[in-house]
Amino acid sequence: MRATPFHEGCWLGGRKLVSWLSGLPTAPSRRLQSPVAFDADGVPDHSGGSAPDSNRLPITTDLERADGTARFTRMSTRSCGAVFDTIAVEYDRVRPTYPDALIDRACDDGGLSAGDRVLEIGCGTGQLTRGLVARGLRVTAVEPGRNLIALASRALATVEFVNRKFEDARLSRLFPAAFSAAAFHWPDPDVSWGKAARSLTPGGRLALIQYCAFQDESTAEDADAVMAALAGAAPEIAAAWPVPRDLETVMNGAEDRRDNVSGVWAWLSGQDVARGYAAPLFDDVEVAAQPAFVEHTPEELNALFATTSVYHRLSPSQRTALERANVAIGDRLGRPIRSSMLAVLVTARSVGAAP
Ligand SMILES: C[S@@+](CC[C@H](N)C(=O)[O-])C[C@H]1O[C@@H](n2cnc3c(N)ncnc32)[C@H](O)[C@@H]1O
Repeated sequence: MRATPFHEGCWLGGRKLVSWLSGLPTAPSRRLQSPVAFDADGVPDHSGGSAPDSNRLPITTDLERADGTARFTRMSTRSCGAVFDTIAVEYDRVRPTYPDALIDRACDDGGLSAGDRVLEIGCGTGQLTRGLVARGLRVTAVEPGRNLIALASRALATVEFVNRKFEDARLSRLFPAAFSAAAFHWPDPDVSWGKAARSLTPGGRLALIQYCAFQDESTAEDADAVMAALAGAAPEIAAAWPVPRDLETVMNGAEDRRDNVSGVWAWLSGQDVARGYAAPLFDDVEVAAQPAFVEHTPEELNALFATTSVYHRLSPSQRTALERANVAIGDRLGRPIRSSMLAVLVTARSVGAAP
């Protein structure tokens, strides 16, 4: 599954926003699969993070023997991130990979070469990992979900998996780069920024990537219809849903927060991850963004939404109402439902000597 960009990206590097490299299309150019904008907090507590120990795959469990405008600010428990492990097969089936241009950009920023060993935090079933391995990188992936690892390891035999939450993982080496895709908001931010910095060699790169909601006229009608469906089924969820922003707003907001990588990531991800202590740990914060246009049948859209943590906050009747409303949208449109996504990448350099 791939989220294919429909035009070039937009880089924020060095100083300030660089403008569009090319304009937004006015109509969809091709059918794509399944970017998801984000995952929010608040799912039921599936404490423990792991399914029963039913797989026999080789999993390393402990290596060490050797301001944002966050919309979802209520983190009742970080263990809610465990929900993905309960739906691992579906997650693997519908979740997208990430644009090559952003992965290349992250590798370039980190000065990475084939053979380098890098860290990934929250690999899921390998949506980003596959792109890292394809570039010849050796990956150590920290992932609390055993079912997710079981699926990831089938296609990623060379990856070293650490079946722990990032907060609890004991890593035996330093890495020239640490990646995380749609996952860095799940570890406790009071811990994660410091731990990421400590996991890196001095000058090593942190690279965070995610899809965000993106405001684009060409898909606004469909986006409004989908939001109205969500508001009808689950008004409390819809009320907290991040408002899609245009590219200039996204990039200017990132620029305003560039003195603290955690503020940039809070702004982009819409999550409550901004922490003051993170500011001196990283410098040289850069942002790259690449829009992607996607189309889904209502069934595909429902399947995708069912892999978000938000879905698991809905009651069965809310889920049914939402799924029916999406089907009705598809019937009314007589074509797939269109949406615009923005794949964003933040890279930052560890200054070393993290606390
Ligand atoms: C939305 S999924 C992203 C998975 C994959 N990287 C992707 O891009 O699709 C969030 C991932 O973070 C993992 N996760 C949740 N809490 C975590 C924690 N405390 N430390 C590390 N990973 C965590 C989940 O198990 C899940 O695989």
